[in-house]
Amino acid sequence: MYKIGSIGAGNMGLAIIDGAVGSKAFLSSDIAVFDICQDKIDLCKSKGYSVLSSEEALFLNCEIVLLAVKPQIYEDVLNKLKSSSEKVNNQIIITIAAGISTSYIQNFLGEDTKVIRIMPNTPLLIGHGACAFSKTDNVNDDEFDKIIRIFETMGEVAVISEEQMNDIIPANGSSPAYVYYFIDCITSSVEKMGIDKDAAKKLVAQTFIGAAEMVLKTGKDPKELIQQVCTPGGATIESIKVFDEKNLCEIIDEACIKCVNRAYELSL
Ligand SMILES: NC(=O)c1ccc[n+]([C@@H]2O[C@H](COP(=O)([O-])OP(=O)(O)OC[C@H]3O[C@@H](n4cnc5c(N)ncnc54)[C@H](OP(=O)(O)O)[C@@H]3O)[C@@H](O)[C@H]2O)c1
Repeated sequence: MYKIGSIGAGNMGLAIIDGAVGSKAFLSSDIAVFDICQDKIDLCKSKGYSVLSSEEALFLNCEIVLLAVKPQIYEDVLNKLKSSSEKVNNQIIITIAAGISTSYIQNFLGEDTKVIRIMPNTPLLIGHGACAFSKTDNVNDDEFDKIIRIFETMGEVAVISEEQMNDIIPANGSSPAYVYYFIDCITSSVEKMGIDKDAAKKLVAQTFIGAAEMVLKTGKDPKELIQQVCTPGGATIESIKVFDEKNLCEIIDEACIKCVNRAYELSL
């Protein structure tokens, strides 16, 4: 048996398995994948992962099965796994799809299927992920701890109730995109002023790392940290005034609500 297998080796599936190998939680020989895309198959082979021949083969041969396909593909994949579900024993299914509930998976694979639902994010790939976790009642504490410990080697984790799994998405699942958006906008702006693009990108990205670490390590409220940068009558306060005048906070709030609403629309 492989220790972990991923059905789907796209952005998130690979972020998790590459991240777990990078953090030494697993060896590449512990890992199996199945993907329908030949490029992904070739990539996985080049990384030393075993590529299995079907969804069912992966399901039958892995202790932990990660479902890392798009939410729209879940029904098709679960239908294929259904017929094999009586042949597997004590496996743990990890689902990472926005909007897919653990009960939806149990409806296909049986009510006694152990399911852990995670909202992950792509920085797992480099050991700086942030993952929210919930589980079905039949996953015992030892099993849950074992999975959480794997993800702790790749970043921060938080346990929440399954009911909050859609609401958490803007906090960690989608927010890397929001951060990239800010990095891109600020970089473009200073580039227009004649600063070299690579130098600008490096400084902006490092500033996001530094500022985020300040929030975590000082424990201070972000509003207080903003004040520390804003000298009265200085330059930074002029930017913050624009954010306030244009209600940037409301725009971000609207964006987060739209994201969560979409997850509810997709929910199964
Ligand atoms: N990306 C993120 O940052 C993020 C964050 C949180 C949660 N998630 C969740 O993670 C899941 C995967 O997202 P993703 O961004 O990794 O998607 P993705 O990059 O499109 O990867 C999915 C992979 O699965 C393949 N695939 C399609 N049908 C398959 C099947 N029947 N069996 C095996 N593989 C199959 C796809 O191949 P084709 O490309 O040929 O279709 C693709 O290679 C989604 O449910 C999403 O909600 C993603």
